[in-house]
Amino acid sequence: MSKEKILVIGASGQIGVELTLALRKIYGNNNVVASDLREENSLLKGTGPYVSIDVMNKEMLHVQVIRQNITQIYLLAAILSATGEKNPTLAWNLNMQGLLNVLDIAREEKLHKVYWPSSIAVFGPTSPKVDCPQQTIIEPITVYGISKYAGEFWCNYYHQRWGVDIRSLRYPGLISYKSAPGGGTTDYAIEIFYEALENKKYTCFLSEDTYLPMMYMPDAIDATIQLMEAPAEKISIHTSYNLAGISFSPKEIAAAIQQHIPEFQISYQPDYRQTIANSWPQSIDDSIAKNDWGWKKEFDLERMTTDMLANLK
Ligand SMILES: NC(=O)c1ccc[n+]([C@@H]2O[C@H](COP(=O)([O-])OP(=O)(O)OC[C@H]3O[C@@H](n4cnc5c(N)ncnc54)[C@H](O)[C@@H]3O)[C@@H](O)[C@H]2O)c1
Repeated sequence: MSKEKILVIGASGQIGVELTLALRKIYGNNNVVASDLREENSLLKGTGPYVSIDVMNKEMLHVQVIRQNITQIYLLAAILSATGEKNPTLAWNLNMQGLLNVLDIAREEKLHKVYWPSSIAVFGPTSPKVDCPQQTIIEPITVYGISKYAGEFWCNYYHQRWGVDIRSLRYPGLISYKSAPGGGTTDYAIEIFYEALENKKYTCFLSEDTYLPMMYMPDAIDATIQLMEAPAEKISIHTSYNLAGISFSPKEIAAAIQQHIPEFQISYQPDYRQTIANSWPQSIDDSIAKNDWGWKKEFDLERMTTDMLANLK
């Protein structure tokens, strides 16, 4: 394990901070290099090396990979669903070119492994709503979803054609308290906790019965590390694995919070994000991840709610 040297790109983001810290525990602090376009997240400071990298600058990225003797890359830099709808060209450029830059360098430098997350946003209004399967109709309506779906096939292409070992998960909406979310449609499920504790009320930008696939961050980190540590012969999906955690609606998460804060009130004012949410499935079938590499979630809605509130207090 100590032979691996990992570069995390987008390490100051919602997932990057926690994933970097988890990888540092496994591989050793100095063997996990954090990088981002923005400044180092305060939770990462003093825990290991940090370099400033723009994933769009391929030459600079390539130099860092060689200079730091990198053997694995985790690429987390992206523009998420809601932000992407405000600037589609920027989202497409970053999400596609960033990935292609990493894939090319992985191929040229014969990196051992690459991790790149896709999203349930690949699914569109014509996909099945309940227990959405791995292989199904996929017609995304957001630029984010389009970029993730195209990215999945680039990953598959680099694997088939050049043998690059690139692994991927279609994350659901991720809920966490350590670092702020980056502009996704599921961000309400984080904001609601802050507002419940501070103001005892929250106005949700999705309607009360909008069920979406979600996951608590510790489960997402576990799934990522389990996938990356699975023997290569166990990996049957070279696009991106469906991954399921918890499905709930704003009304249900509000009720779970009211178990702890009885006076908490929720109201609803759906905005442009409702259209995005309506296009996604309500729940995901992740049986292939379970069968291939033994994936199993730990957190249900009640356990997650208790943990979030305890950590945010
Ligand atoms: N958070 C979720 O709920 C969720 C769900 C599904 C998929 N994902 C995927 O997981 C990945 C990480 O998501 P996140 O929630 O941590 O996002 P985030 O927005 O919180 O973090 C992304 C990070 O990338 C950095 N970045 C942006 N442009 C960059 C560039 N040109 N070069 C280097 N760094 C750059 C940003 O500064 C930021 O710190 C993304 O690919 C996202 O699509 C996230």
